[in-house]
Amino acid sequence: MAEKKTFYVTTPIYYPSNKLHVGNSYTTVAADAMARFKRLTGYRVWFLTGTDEHGQKIQRQAEAAGKAPADFVDEIVAWIKELWNELDIEFDDFIRTSEPRHKDKVSRIFERYYEQGDIYKGKYEGLYCTPCEAYWTERQLDDGNCPDCGRKVELIDEEAYFFKMSRYADRLLEHIETHPEFIQPPSRKNEMINNFLKPGLEDLCVSRTSFDWGIPVPFDRDHVIYVWLDALSNYITALGYGEEGSLYDQFWPADVQLIGKDILRFHTIYWPIFLMALGEPLPKTVFGHGWLMLQEGKMSKSKGNAIDPMVLAGRYSSDALRYFLLREIPFGQDGVFSLEAFITRINNDLANDLGNLVSRTLTMAERYFDGVLPEPSAGDRATDHELSRTALNTPGAVEAAMDQMKISDALAGLWLLVRQSNKYIDDNMPWSLAKDPANRERLGTVIYNLIESIRFIGVMLKPYMPRTPESIWEQLNIKADKDLQEWESLAGWGRIKPGTVVKRGDDLFPRLNLQAEIRAMRADKPAEETAVDQSAPAEEQAGLINLEQFQQVDLRVAEISDAERVPKSDKLLKLEVDLGEETKRQVAAGLAEYYQPEELIGKQVIFVANLKPVKLRGILSQGMLLAAVSADGVPVLTAVDRKIAPGSRVS
Ligand code: MSP
Repeated sequence: MAEKKTFYVTTPIYYPSNKLHVGNSYTTVAADAMARFKRLTGYRVWFLTGTDEHGQKIQRQAEAAGKAPADFVDEIVAWIKELWNELDIEFDDFIRTSEPRHKDKVSRIFERYYEQGDIYKGKYEGLYCTPCEAYWTERQLDDGNCPDCGRKVELIDEEAYFFKMSRYADRLLEHIETHPEFIQPPSRKNEMINNFLKPGLEDLCVSRTSFDWGIPVPFDRDHVIYVWLDALSNYITALGYGEEGSLYDQFWPADVQLIGKDILRFHTIYWPIFLMALGEPLPKTVFGHGWLMLQEGKMSKSKGNAIDPMVLAGRYSSDALRYFLLREIPFGQDGVFSLEAFITRINNDLANDLGNLVSRTLTMAERYFDGVLPEPSAGDRATDHELSRTALNTPGAVEAAMDQMKISDALAGLWLLVRQSNKYIDDNMPWSLAKDPANRERLGTVIYNLIESIRFIGVMLKPYMPRTPESIWEQLNIKADKDLQEWESLAGWGRIKPGTVVKRGDDLFPRLNLQAEIRAMRADKPAEETAVDQSAPAEEQAGLINLEQFQQVDLRVAEISDAERVPKSDKLLKLEVDLGEETKRQVAAGLAEYYQPEELIGKQVIFVANLKPVKLRGILSQGMLLAAVSADGVPVLTAVDRKIAPGSRVS
């Protein structure tokens, strides 16, 4: 049997200085999705994460908490592991830089640099940002402050060891220029070249003496090794670098090292130089993703405005949080986290698109076939081909996007199939087919195709939302049939067996009420923040509404499927509109003086779907069509720019 291809993916190792926020979780969720995707598509994967435990910042924080650094970090590391467990992060190894397996190797690496003349002893007089654990020159500061985090820098004056970065600068520049895949996304490459490499690399100070929470320099124990040299080495020490027959031989160089854009310099300048000095190959790709921001600005543990991922996952499910993080922001760009955007995604993509597809299909399978999956007939209807073709093409599209780290595009591609499947229901109207026994075979084919499409979707969802497919397998009754859950099973259409007894389960994602969620989450926030959030009286007085108020109106695209005059009324028309729901809605509309019933049939209009039903002239009216009204009072119906599935949300 052919050897499996390998895939090594890493996350930054986090400072256990405080609980992580949703921004930190972002990298790890992305790395996990990547790792799961590669495992699913047949790779032997190694996924490493961990914690960066040494350094002055941690030592000071431990002191402030009245604890020994080791005890201080232990508690936070336990919390971080719990968080990863909660978010279904399936890492293969978790490295802590305080572990002997790491420390011993870093000492040896440092010694080797010294022996081969890459490191020499000198004196450091300069500026240091402790929160970033970074050295700066006067010229690099931003208004006297750290250019990365904006905080005050400290003047340090210590005897220290230095690494001769300039020895490797030309080779690194050449590597970057000849390996376009090395720094991703490509937009970040020039920043590194122009801001750091071109102006000339200064030797890097790689030891400190003013504190002791670190790995001692083996031959000069007053010094501890600079925390970034210590931390960056984790990517190879965790693989057992230097040990005979270790994982290092199988997995290094890493395929993708995921990091936030703020630590790109450390990973695309220092790290490759440290590796070059060891004579080791460089990672294939270092991917610097964007930042997750809050509407009011940067998310930060120390500012106390961070959003707790544990709370979000606990309330909304880790699958929902993972989906949001991966789908909302094109991987690489900055994005905003807001509760509104999060709830809107859950409602639109997960409850409406995916959840409804599954619940509608399973309800119909039970109602029309007692849950026994019918045999499809080998017809040649265009709509069936369209669905199966989309399904068969989706795995390739998802894989192509993942190979370019376009995780959000991969999900968008998968959702085309989800939407296509919903459209297939609307186009085939199983509830109409069910009215006539002559259509029984056709009805069976439609239900079969929908179930098979849901199976496809379930398989492809696994890397991003590991729990949801489990619930789908349960409902499709294929939990034990592992073959039907594998990527390879997507190579052909129609693998789920007729006769399988499916059973509708709980809704995958119940629809949430945005207002109620905002109120509930606000109740968890400190009073100060609540007060700020509510301070908009000027806006309200001016008659403005905010986004949340607007979103209370459920606007949809409705397709008018029938229209007739109302006897004894000059004004009213009785309409039947399709909102993509199982049954159509009836509406009484005051349009009879302006529109002929025939001209309305087939039109798509904007519709208020959550208006309380009323009776007009004895006709139940379940919503309202929107119309613009001309100066002389003539209503002109609103329309959509091009055809779209009935029920599509207008926002
Ligand atoms: N310990 C170093 C990394 C050493 S790797 C050898 C470190 N740790 S950190 O805990 O401060 O940050 C870890 C990661 O979280 C970084 O990649 C950083 O970019 C990321 N993020 C921190 N805040 C973030 C957001 N608001 N949004 C997205 N990522 C963010 O740096």
